[in-house]
Amino acid sequence: MTYFEEAGRSREEVMGELVHMRDNDIDWRGGRTSAYVFSAGEEIRNFGKEAYNEYFTENALGARRAFPSVQRMEREVVGMGLELFHAPEGGAGNMTTGGTESIIMAVKTCRDWTRRRKGADFRGAIVLPDSAHPAFEKAAALMDLPIRRVPLAEGFLADPVATAEAIDDDTMLIVGSAPCFPFGVIDPIARLSDIAVKRGVWLHVDACVGGWIAPFVADIGRPVPRFDFALEGVKSISADLHKFGFCPKPASTVFYRSGELQASQEFVFDAWPSGRFATQTLVGTRPAGAVAAAWAVLRHLGRDGYRKIATQVMGVRDAYLEGLRAIPGMQIRGEPTLANIAFGCDDIDMGKVATLMSERGWLPGQLKAPRSLHLMLSLHHGPACEAYLRDVAECVALVRNGQTKAKASGANYS
Ligand SMILES: Cc1ncc(COP(=O)(O)O)c(C=O)c1O
Repeated sequence: MTYFEEAGRSREEVMGELVHMRDNDIDWRGGRTSAYVFSAGEEIRNFGKEAYNEYFTENALGARRAFPSVQRMEREVVGMGLELFHAPEGGAGNMTTGGTESIIMAVKTCRDWTRRRKGADFRGAIVLPDSAHPAFEKAAALMDLPIRRVPLAEGFLADPVATAEAIDDDTMLIVGSAPCFPFGVIDPIARLSDIAVKRGVWLHVDACVGGWIAPFVADIGRPVPRFDFALEGVKSISADLHKFGFCPKPASTVFYRSGELQASQEFVFDAWPSGRFATQTLVGTRPAGAVAAAWAVLRHLGRDGYRKIATQVMGVRDAYLEGLRAIPGMQIRGEPTLANIAFGCDDIDMGKVATLMSERGWLPGQLKAPRSLHLMLSLHHGPACEAYLRDVAECVALVRNGQTKAKASGANYS
């Protein structure tokens, strides 16, 4: 087979193939996938798409020199986030292309800021709870930084005592999630913040999942532990717009308590023929469409719009939780604050339940420990709730009664 053919094909033929190629993809619109897609409904999705397409060609790399419009939109998106997260006067931030990039940049910033104070040969270890996202491991691997995982406490929460014990003279950074991906619980950030202040280390809050929705979930009267700059030890926060901010991918934000901290994020290089190259991001070229779309969605929804969506999303989550709790032996892992949840029955192999669920057309999220199924719920999961719950109940019963030869499938995130 030749991949790159001599003759081009008509647009109709190519588009036809493009559209039909997804025939075997997971039916995300039908709520069949446990992750990867977030939705606040078709209206918001289409509006984001329209704004994205308006700035489809511009490049956010050139925002300062060529596209003041893109620079303004990014500044305003960052401004909204700084307000939302109670940043003190002088707080700073920027957009990135995703949670992983936001986390890599926060780790790099912490490393460079700490080395400026402690010397260039300071190693700069990271201490983080077992539930923290692998993006921190990626950052540590890229920058050759020591990294130490700490077991979780009761309720699958970060353990402040174990965290404090793991900090030594080499430590520069501790981490908490708001919430963590596996269990959806918000770590005790206030206690981690106290430790950070007392021990003189940087606390990063990974609010990639919750950042842009948790404040609105709190606004509608649900209990949400504090996790932002109101806590003195929080030096940086990552928060993804393309998850529960319901903006088109790729879009995230990273915030710092002050511009002085953010200054260590910038990468500057001048010793080549084309002169000064300075960026706040890992990538160079960045889609201005994602900046424009985020700006437009945030402006269009306003705080009120996000409160309405938070009410709907939490309604979907409540319906799933209620149905799951009614299944004999089913445990919800921890007390999830938002809409990502994990659950399982300890008397059976949940890996087998996952296999049976995939045979029924679901793409099950799974956890390795404790063996559980996982869901990251938003509005497109609403209509699928009844069918999903029925299938989970039936698959659990089949495994429990030994009525299946299904082999256990393993947990895969990507
Ligand atoms: C808690 C948390 N942090 C970071 C990330 C990484 O985000 P991204 O996939 O946008 O790089 C994720 C992704 O789900 C996450 O759940």
